[in-house]
Amino acid sequence: MTAVKAVGLRKSFKAQTVLKGVSLTVGQGEIFALLGSNGAGKTTTIKILATLLRADSGTAEVCGFDVAKQGRRVRECISLTGQFAAVDDILTGRENLIMIGRLRHLGDPKGEADRQLGEFGLSDAADKPLSTYSGGMRRRLDLAMSMMGSPRVIFLDEPTTGLDPQGRLAVWDTVRTMVESGVTVFLTTQYLEEADSLADRIAILHDGAIAAEGTAAELKRLAPPPKLVLSFLEQGGMAQAAEALAAYGPVPGALTLTVATDGSVNQTAEIMRRLENAGIEASFAQRPPTLEEAFLTIIKEAI
Ligand SMILES: Nc1ncnc2c1ncn2[C@@H]1O[C@H](COP(=O)(O)OP(=O)(O)OP(=O)(O)O)[C@@H](O)[C@H]1O
Ligand SMILES: [Mg+2]
Repeated sequence: MTAVKAVGLRKSFKAQTVLKGVSLTVGQGEIFALLGSNGAGKTTTIKILATLLRADSGTAEVCGFDVAKQGRRVRECISLTGQFAAVDDILTGRENLIMIGRLRHLGDPKGEADRQLGEFGLSDAADKPLSTYSGGMRRRLDLAMSMMGSPRVIFLDEPTTGLDPQGRLAVWDTVRTMVESGVTVFLTTQYLEEADSLADRIAILHDGAIAAEGTAAELKRLAPPPKLVLSFLEQGGMAQAAEALAAYGPVPGALTLTVATDGSVNQTAEIMRRLENAGIEASFAQRPPTLEEAFLTIIKEAI
């Protein structure tokens, strides 16, 4: 089952072409991350999928409905939490939720508000004005608002921007809990580690199109092979090793040398042999490629 399907979306603002043919597919119940740098067109893509903006050409379906021709049906099955959340500071958390429930014509906005307050751990703060909430609590309320009325597809535009690491982890946990109920989450992020730890599938938006798409593991395979990190007990050994391995361009750290390899056993063995022959004591570890390295490799290839 497909929750979101876009084919060849193009969008320009005056002379600036932002989307040059974006195609993507998101399965139902998936967490999908659209990854891209500032200004890549993430918000523009989300706005088109959520019917807030019209594409110049291309087609998109959400919940099986055409975003251009069946906008109302699309809006009935989605929720959108913007990059800059639209919550009312004077109202309490509960009042904000009830207001959203009314706007969405829910049968029992109060009951639904209470349920979401409980789900998102906000029951104690429910009757305090939002102006007293921390950044993390606000983000939780955003997510609670996005769940009001049980939408099938939830769009979250940069759900963790501006949060501290703890707040970010809390949002990740919350998003994971949200998909347990079967909803599809389409999120954007600039944080590679966020996409890595949260998303089932990731698409990298670069230069107006999807430059690469797959699971974090698949994308990492596009990255350079693992690096060898050698650790030394003292500077002397490290300097000696740097000389013995000069051909490999070792990168010095604090009593470490990081050596890029082609990932082969032969080359790794050769490096070890050189250290052994020089009588240098060292320990080693292999560092797998990070998603960051994959991202940079993919973007470089796309240029
Ligand atoms: N309504 C608009 N009118 C003119 N230009 C726009 C409009 N909306 C977006 N843009 C431009 O389109 C480009 C993409 O913007 P968009 O907001 O989609 O990027 P983004 O990937 O969400 O970036 P960020 O990570 O900063 O949120 C930017 O150069 C932006 O200035
Ligand atoms: Mg944006």
